[in-house]
Amino acid sequence: MSQQPQAKFRSDYQSPEFIISDIDLVFDLNDTNTLVSATSKVQQLKQSTDLLLEGEGMKLVSLKIDDVEYSDFTQTDTQLTIHNVSGDFTLTIITEINPQENTALEGLYKSGDGFCTQCEAEGFRRITYYLDRPDVLARFTTKVIADKEAYPHLLSNGNRISQGDLDGGKHFVHWQDPFPKPAYLFALVAGNFDVLTDTYKTKSGRDVALEIYVDQGNLDRTPHAMTSLINSMKWDEERFDLEYDLDIYMIVAVDFFNMGAMENKGLNVFNSKFVLAKQETATDTDYLGIEAVIGHEYFHNWTGNRVTCRDWFQLSLKEGLTVFRDQEFSSDLGSRSVNRINNVRIMRGPQFAEDASPMAHPIRPEKVIEMNNFYTLTVYEKGSEVIRMMHTLLGEANFQKGMKLYFERHDGTAATCEDFVLAMENASGIDLTQFRRWYSQSGTPVLTVSSSYDDAKNEYALTVKQHTPATEDQTDKLPLHIPFDIELYAQDGLVIQLRCNNEKVSNVLNVTEEEQTFIFEQVSEKPVVSLLREFSAPVKLNYAYSDEELIFLMVHAQNDFARWDAGQMLLANYIRKNIANIQDDKELVLPQSVVDAFRGVLLNAELEHAFIAEMFVLPNHNEITGWFDTVDVDAIDKALGFIKQTLATELKDEFSATYHSLKQGSYSVEHDAIGKRALRNCSLSYLAKTEIGEALVEAQYQDADNMTDTMAAMGAANAAELSIRQTLMNDFSAKWSHDGLVMDKWFILQGSNPSSEALSIIKETMNHKAFSLKNPNRTRSLIGSFAGGNAVNFHSKTGEGYAFLGDILIEMNESNPQVASRLVDPLLKFKKYDSDRQSLIKAQLQRLADLDNLAKDLYEKVTKALA
Ligand code: TRP
Ligand code: ZN
Repeated sequence: MSQQPQAKFRSDYQSPEFIISDIDLVFDLNDTNTLVSATSKVQQLKQSTDLLLEGEGMKLVSLKIDDVEYSDFTQTDTQLTIHNVSGDFTLTIITEINPQENTALEGLYKSGDGFCTQCEAEGFRRITYYLDRPDVLARFTTKVIADKEAYPHLLSNGNRISQGDLDGGKHFVHWQDPFPKPAYLFALVAGNFDVLTDTYKTKSGRDVALEIYVDQGNLDRTPHAMTSLINSMKWDEERFDLEYDLDIYMIVAVDFFNMGAMENKGLNVFNSKFVLAKQETATDTDYLGIEAVIGHEYFHNWTGNRVTCRDWFQLSLKEGLTVFRDQEFSSDLGSRSVNRINNVRIMRGPQFAEDASPMAHPIRPEKVIEMNNFYTLTVYEKGSEVIRMMHTLLGEANFQKGMKLYFERHDGTAATCEDFVLAMENASGIDLTQFRRWYSQSGTPVLTVSSSYDDAKNEYALTVKQHTPATEDQTDKLPLHIPFDIELYAQDGLVIQLRCNNEKVSNVLNVTEEEQTFIFEQVSEKPVVSLLREFSAPVKLNYAYSDEELIFLMVHAQNDFARWDAGQMLLANYIRKNIANIQDDKELVLPQSVVDAFRGVLLNAELEHAFIAEMFVLPNHNEITGWFDTVDVDAIDKALGFIKQTLATELKDEFSATYHSLKQGSYSVEHDAIGKRALRNCSLSYLAKTEIGEALVEAQYQDADNMTDTMAAMGAANAAELSIRQTLMNDFSAKWSHDGLVMDKWFILQGSNPSSEALSIIKETMNHKAFSLKNPNRTRSLIGSFAGGNAVNFHSKTGEGYAFLGDILIEMNESNPQVASRLVDPLLKFKKYDSDRQSLIKAQLQRLADLDNLAKDLYEKVTKALA
């Protein structure tokens, strides 16, 4: 590294010295040399007469102040400083950029045949020199000029104010966005699309035009996105009383995109993965993902756009809150318990792992080198859990009062996390002083609970200790305010009312001290306790449950989540036990009582199908890794394989009956139909481990009329290493190699192939005509699934897996540092492995550290890990 990247600190925030109130942009689009003219009304707010603008990777063509050529400026690689300016003035800057060569997919770039932009977090500075910070809000107009035949659609934020033809086969469209916005919400798209249109009447009676733009030929894959958008608009009116504010809402699907989607004002840009679906190409998981992401970006219009972030350290203000909102949306429309289970899996797996890694940070980070590195599970998912805890503490009515107050105070401005908490506190009258520590403290708290029952007094006591272990970013931890939801059951399964000091009390206990004892009165028998119901706080729970108690809760707990969680804890006990048995060369065990408990779940006709399927999903490798200081990759794999095999063998008849009874005549994406497919395909994944599996998998692959069933057959063949696997893989690739999105599913199976040949097959697969390292979806599917989801092969003692990832990262450090920086994550966690593997991984990190052009993104992570 020639010049070491510098960190920014949250505590250094200064309000802007200059602001821009209005900006008029003109784009003359060309593949390799696009001209951007930006005319801004600038206003000096403080004494400084140096106007510092951000800008990277552009050619400055001209600079004028109040229409006169101006030369009193200095430039670095990343900044333009204009000297001796004051008061109000007009600044006109013309820059030249090269969208064709922009493989980083930030700023203006080409995706396929079209142009598009990505400006969050700091991409606008690759378009023009600007005050590229979220607390500078300007009114934008945008004139887009391009060849008319190649780019019939020219889009930007807001309303179309004029359009027309120009010389040389060009045309233009002029857009005006009436809402002041930070530059990160700017968007421009140009291309030749098919468009699905609809309209939505808001609850106050305004008509909104809805338009979804997709590559030509994909119109038959857009109806689900449109339905999801309309459902989102309706839900936000009903649940949050929030209405859309422009006359038009556009969504564009692009194939080259670093993330899921982007909430640009009035013009969302989506990864095509989160728009396109029809039954032949998309799985049920894809359908639900589209609903969630369409909702997420739509909900940002209020939580993100109308109220935006003061600075990027406040990212969770919009992301945590918007994830909370999209989770509630999915839960209100579909199965609340299944949604909760899946969100909790993400917390316990990858989010807890992030807390345990060198990248540990609070949901409101203190120190950032590359902002793109902080679009994390911590900011998004734990951020959402923090909002959810406030919702639990306040209740829905007070929470909604808090939201109203938040918008009353901050609509049209750039706010902070503190502003949000204060609104919640003021609206509800509930003291959140200690609760605020969730914003500043990183790491996963551990709750250690013990109980005792006093026969003579009829009292039950719970002692709760909390402790947050030091993280790599922060050593000293304080006690947090933890909402701890519990329930007591009598042996007959009836709920025991909680009473303290002769009064009925809520199920949500306020844990605030390092150690606290709660005494419950009038408990006439020794109860079974259900702890951390609904995962009421993002913590690890330690409690010495017996098998009998867990089996009791699997049957009797009042809510599905608690039943699922009891099942997970029971499985966890035997996964741990068997890992130890493998290490001690002892026989592996899974008691009949455990098998029978799961048999009971499978046969319980009262449970939702989708929920039963979740009960049978074992904790995955990554989640189990989090239970240990040093992990034994192969032992985890063997223990999981043993449990899956035992359940498969013991419950073969029940799985088989379930499988056959759930065959559906015709396909639909109704939630009930999705649930039936989920349980049927879960049964198939177990049956694949028995002698009848091969024939069932093959028949299902042949008969499938939808991608969910096709992929379930292929996934089962892959995981169980059936001999039919290769035949199915070949057939699928021949059928779909023209369709990158569909091939992603195939690339994931190649990446997660459990065969010991996996790595050489993956290397060969990189030559597949549908594969390209330039496309983030392809890269994540093949390489990401190998590094993040194929533990045994990636962590092969030979170190070949690590070296392979090292090679790819060196290449992507130049082409797309943002995607490279996500792929590096598995290497950062080397401390979890034995010393041989540690040195092999560190050698790869060192290779990266030694590069003389290491991008900020990788620099930040690699230096933290090696420190
Ligand atoms: N704001 C986007 C979301 O949450 C995230 C996003 C999309 C993003 N593209 C990005 C973040 C590029 C960083 C860089 O939906
Ligand atoms: Zn978001």
